[in-house]
Amino acid sequence: MKALILVGGYGTRLRPLTLTKPKPLVEFCNKPMVLHQIEALAEVGVTHVILAVSYLSDMLQREMEVEAKRLGIKITISQETEPLGTAGPLALARDHLQVENEPFFVLNSDVICEFPFNDMIKFHKEHNCEGTIVVTKVDEPSKYGVVVYEQNTGKIDRFVEKPREYVSNKINAGLYIFNPAILNRIELRPTSIEKEIFPAMASDKQLYAFELKGFWMDVGQPKDYLTGMGLYLNFARASMPDRLSRDNGTVGNVLVDPTAKIGERCRIGPNVVIGPRVIIQDGVCLKNCTILADSLVKSHSWIANCIIGWRCNIGQWVRMENTSVLGLDVSVQDELFINGGIILPHKAISESVSEPKILI
Ligand code: GDD
Ligand code: MG
Repeated sequence: MKALILVGGYGTRLRPLTLTKPKPLVEFCNKPMVLHQIEALAEVGVTHVILAVSYLSDMLQREMEVEAKRLGIKITISQETEPLGTAGPLALARDHLQVENEPFFVLNSDVICEFPFNDMIKFHKEHNCEGTIVVTKVDEPSKYGVVVYEQNTGKIDRFVEKPREYVSNKINAGLYIFNPAILNRIELRPTSIEKEIFPAMASDKQLYAFELKGFWMDVGQPKDYLTGMGLYLNFARASMPDRLSRDNGTVGNVLVDPTAKIGERCRIGPNVVIGPRVIIQDGVCLKNCTILADSLVKSHSWIANCIIGWRCNIGQWVRMENTSVLGLDVSVQDELFINGGIILPHKAISESVSEPKILI
């Protein structure tokens, strides 16, 4: 089987991380985001993954060559000359997708869950119509595509993208299976699958909803990235508890790369991910945060609800909170307070940031 992943543009909502690394390669729980998806696809027998991108990235191309070899699959980068939205990329990859006349997966690149690909295939073959959409329940449906469907069969009656008024709390989780017949509905031009294609498929009774079990999150923005991290660690606790830290000083679910070093009398957790070669000195307190590779957090600092980018250097007695996000190679001097700072790569911070702001 084949799969197309909608990787899209520059990942502006995850800046400053995406200023130095393409979004699919930004690590989520110590693994590049897109690899969570590609590995799960390979596990159910997908042999060819097409990454639909609207920008050129040598870094992405190189990394994907390595991963394709490791997983024994083919990974093709399908590059748009102008952003084609969420449907246009399928038309661009038409030759890859229709060749075997069998169903294929399409995924939004920024969603994380238990990826029930085998169950999706089974459900799709049972209803035998053009498309299956995975749906999940959320508290704030207005940020998503809302799906109205028959509870017993899953047949979708309506699809409304980002509704202004309440329609339902069941939303499009951004994971699909389509028959190649969908390609007859899509032209090679910028097109929204959610606004232009799904409503038409629903009125033709060709679209079915598959209800997701377990956790789900769109992790394409810092706040949601951190929420998704907590959900993923919770899932890891149940499914792969050996991967979580059992050290003294860790509280709740904590994932630490084996090459990281943690000092004495620290309080790490709950919900913390520590990347490769990170050094955490003595007496540090970390809660609900991700520290990416090669960073240093000096003694007695306190960090909560933040993402610390690669190769950062956080001084002693620093206090950082409120969804602060540091890009590559940021340094923060001793004793500073950072409240909701979005700090661009290579910046040296020598004064406290008392109100949320972007530091260039
Ligand atoms: N190749 C390509 N080209 N990909 C694109 C383009 C484009 O022009 N535009 C967006 N994408 C990719 C994004 O990178 C992302 O992986 C996916 O398409 C969806 O775009 P988002 O910008 O993340 O949309 P959203 O989060 O507001 O809404 C979508 O996801 C929700 C679930 O998280 C919709 O599919 C909603 O219906 C859905 O509920
Ligand atoms: Mg999204």
